Amino acid sequence: MTNLSDTAQQLVAHGKGILAADESFSTADKRLREYGIEPSEEMRRKFRDMLLATPGIDTYLSGVILYEETLEQNADNGIPFATLLANEHVLPGIKVDQGLDEFPDSPGESITKGLLGLPERLQEYRDTYGARFTKWRAAIRIEGDRLPTSAMLVENAKRLASYAYEVQKAGMVPMVEPEVLLEGAHSRLRAREVVETTLHVLFDALAEQNVDLSGILLKTSMVLSGSKSGRTDTSEEVAEDTLAVLLASVPKEVPGIVFLSGGQGPDQATDNLRAITARAKEVQAPWILTFSYARALQEEALAVWKGKDEYEDAAREVFIGRLKKVQAALA
Ligand code: G3H
Repeated sequence: MTNLSDTAQQLVAHGKGILAADESFSTADKRLREYGIEPSEEMRRKFRDMLLATPGIDTYLSGVILYEETLEQNADNGIPFATLLANEHVLPGIKVDQGLDEFPDSPGESITKGLLGLPERLQEYRDTYGARFTKWRAAIRIEGDRLPTSAMLVENAKRLASYAYEVQKAGMVPMVEPEVLLEGAHSRLRAREVVETTLHVLFDALAEQNVDLSGILLKTSMVLSGSKSGRTDTSEEVAEDTLAVLLASVPKEVPGIVFLSGGQGPDQATDNLRAITARAKEVQAPWILTFSYARALQEEALAVWKGKDEYEDAAREVFIGRLKKVQAALA
């Protein structure tokens, strides 16, 4: 077993999951504003401190994905965030893509950027901050039968594969995330078709780049009807379609698959995860499945915290409460 596959397994094993706390400046600021908090660099630091310095998170979390700004910041106790996590045996990870550009000639589609200078950045994340894993996210929009285009899927998959190759070369585990967006009026059937095609194209590209599948993690969307479809799927429907797609497209060498919450509420994301892991057990799926949520883990804590020191303890209690529920959803 390689060190990379050890790390990948460590990230999904023992009934733990991964917190995504890697919102870019604009997304983090948007989230803070949604809860009436005036954003600033210091507020983003406090927001991360509220989550990451919560005592006992190591019971639930194997890793946390950070944004570059957070890697360079210290917790309230003066300890750099990445060290704070490592001291608790929670592996620090880092989002290394640099966001989305418009995909040429296809209005509404995006391509993820960040390959330029990536090897140098990876070296710094690993050597200076002790990052053990990384994330790269592609965003795939569904619009009727028009989107996604295969040109966009192929180009995003190529970049995910180049990224994964570079990250393994640098001795870290790449999390590959082709997020099929929940936004839209599409049916669950259409989402199922798109997630499956996306994953096939991705694994073809990973094979072409000779990426070692035993040393990656797949981060994927669940198969869900679009947020504007007017339909709420049952957890059993979500579980059945999600497992069907994964079994049809993800090689068994991949050690773990982690789910994003994608805009589902905390309870919905928890219930769907419970049904998915139960279904995975039933069909004897070959990978370990767990969560890598941002919004579904953070929302309730943010609503209590409101950016105020006096509410920090109460917010942390709510955060731990949600972590407990999500962990209990793992079969
Ligand atoms: O890239 C997406 C994040 O890592 C997960 O965020 O759970 O809010 O969808 P989410």
